[in-house]
Amino acid sequence: MAMIIAIDGPAASGKGTLGRRLAAHFGLPHLDTGLLYRAVAHHLISAGEALDDVAAATAAARALDLQRLDDAALRGRAMGEAASIVAAMPSVREALVALQRAFAGQPGGAVLDGRDIGTVICPGADVKLFVTASAEERARRRWRELVARGEPADQAAILEDIRRRDQRDAERPTAPLAVASDAHRLDTTHLDADGAFAAALGIISSVMASR
Ligand code: DC
Repeated sequence: MAMIIAIDGPAASGKGTLGRRLAAHFGLPHLDTGLLYRAVAHHLISAGEALDDVAAATAAARALDLQRLDDAALRGRAMGEAASIVAAMPSVREALVALQRAFAGQPGGAVLDGRDIGTVICPGADVKLFVTASAEERARRRWRELVARGEPADQAAILEDIRRRDQRDAERPTAPLAVASDAHRLDTTHLDADGAFAAALGIISSVMASR
């Protein structure tokens, strides 16, 4: 039976790690949709275009190839910030809808994580999780992640970034970060990755059992 799992939540809430683990557990393909917006931003920056150039950003989104996303170049802090700027453009979002729905429509299903998966991309997903954590805890996680990768990191600046990004993602008019009415909230502030995974599995098995 096909199963689509939609995971949404703010920056550094743990949804990416959770998505990867759930996908491995259920043997499903996983798409971190933040990478799509990061790739659009990366394309503009590499081509020397302005980040607010809607036409260039839309063209980059239309030309995006899922097979050619270069993880390493896209993960840094600056690219997350840049991604949230292009992600506010309705034409960029529109250009990425079909590709995400095609990914979700694979025969066995899929796990997708992002900001608008349960609300816009896959409103009919079998299970919707909305993953949160306090801004301070998310800043600590991002900081640990960056330090582990050898990127210089300042916790106060990261907290600022996270707050700014939360605000931009939640306040944009098109597909803002929002909790779907049928989403299950999972607060990971006091959970580690194993705890979040166990809690998510509990939610998924009770949702699937009740159908
Ligand atoms: O999850 P992330 O940090 O990689 O996301 C980077 C930016 O992309 C984020 O600030 C908002 C945007 N984004 C989005 O608008 N919709 C998605 N489905 C995923 C990410």
